[in-house]
Amino acid sequence: MVKIAPSLLSADFANLGRDIEVTETAGADWIHIDVMDGSFVPNISFGLPVIKAIRPLTKLTFDVHLMIREPSNFFEAFAEAGADLINFHYEAETHIDRAIQRIKGLGVMAGITLNPATPVSVLKHILPELDLVLIMSVNPGFGGQSFIPYSLDKVRELRQMADVLNPSLMIEIDGGIGENNIRAAAEAGADVIVAGSAVYRNNEISENMMKLRKALR
Ligand code: DX5
Ligand code: ZN
Repeated sequence: MVKIAPSLLSADFANLGRDIEVTETAGADWIHIDVMDGSFVPNISFGLPVIKAIRPLTKLTFDVHLMIREPSNFFEAFAEAGADLINFHYEAETHIDRAIQRIKGLGVMAGITLNPATPVSVLKHILPELDLVLIMSVNPGFGGQSFIPYSLDKVRELRQMADVLNPSLMIEIDGGIGENNIRAAAEAGADVIVAGSAVYRNNEISENMMKLRKALR
């Protein structure tokens, strides 16, 4: 079963608690949480205090996508705030292997995120150590951007690598996913699909989730 992970970046921040409850009731599998530092990406979103505040509202897996430089300075803090999965960018960290071991040492799932132009081949040696790889299908920083079609080739290539090196690896895709391409993403081999604007559009969360599930069938 393919998982849907709504990205809170497109939720109504003035009613975040309400939107999270509606998102859970609408059948979301995970909650995708986009943390931006205004340096690694040209935008600032929200951080630790917000994650801490919303943690008691739901039991859903918190999939924390760190779009920050030197992410390893904050692994402990994000695990403590309630992250179940810590995703950091390959492009933002020098010591990838050490960073992965540190996340796993905190007892949470470890994921690496790749920007669109970063080839999946860079993960060859570390793949057996990972719980998840997140393939960015837009340039990170903003919700509501258009899907980059070559991302599907990356998902397919990664699935083939993972079949050999780490069959239980989860592949996640993030950016520009909606009714028109969610099925193609799943068929390419994505296990977890992030959707921001497609879920929160017009604040019709339940209807939008139903449309995405239907498109997957
Ligand atoms: C982009 C974020 C995404 C974003 C997706 O930097 O990582 O998670 O919220 O939004 P949509 O689905 O609208 O492209
Ligand atoms: Zn994201």
